[in-house]
Amino acid sequence: MSNKLPLSISDVGHISIAVPSLKEAQLFYSKTFGCEASDPIDVPAQGIRMVYLFFSNIKIELMEPINSSSPIQKFLDKNPAGGLHHICLTTNNADEAKNILLEGDIRILGGDKVIKGHHGRDIFFMHPKDACGTLIEIEQTDN
Ligand code: CO
Repeated sequence: MSNKLPLSISDVGHISIAVPSLKEAQLFYSKTFGCEASDPIDVPAQGIRMVYLFFSNIKIELMEPINSSSPIQKFLDKNPAGGLHHICLTTNNADEAKNILLEGDIRILGGDKVIKGHHGRDIFFMHPKDACGTLIEIEQTDN
């Protein structure tokens, strides 16, 4: 185990939910909870279209697949009604966080690489099997 753990985490950045229809899900959230939503954002690199729902302390991200090879389509094949996909925790240095996790024998998805999110911030995903069964995204806050 790495003696550099625990990571320095600032907060929960967002919660992400996969849905079969962004439009219907957005309507549900606005009718039921009065949520304000962003305009839809296409993220072709991840095969998704998403909207953010804004709460005072956190964002919820709704995602629908935009093609059949999208990882979100594979998730929906197993969970046709949609469901909780990942949570995002923020930190001030994604690269350092990734290295500390790897030293602690916690696997990183996608070849151990930090990538750019659609917003330009550094992100990576921890392997759910090394994280109590939950997909956890780590996002850098300050770049
Ligand atoms: Co996310």
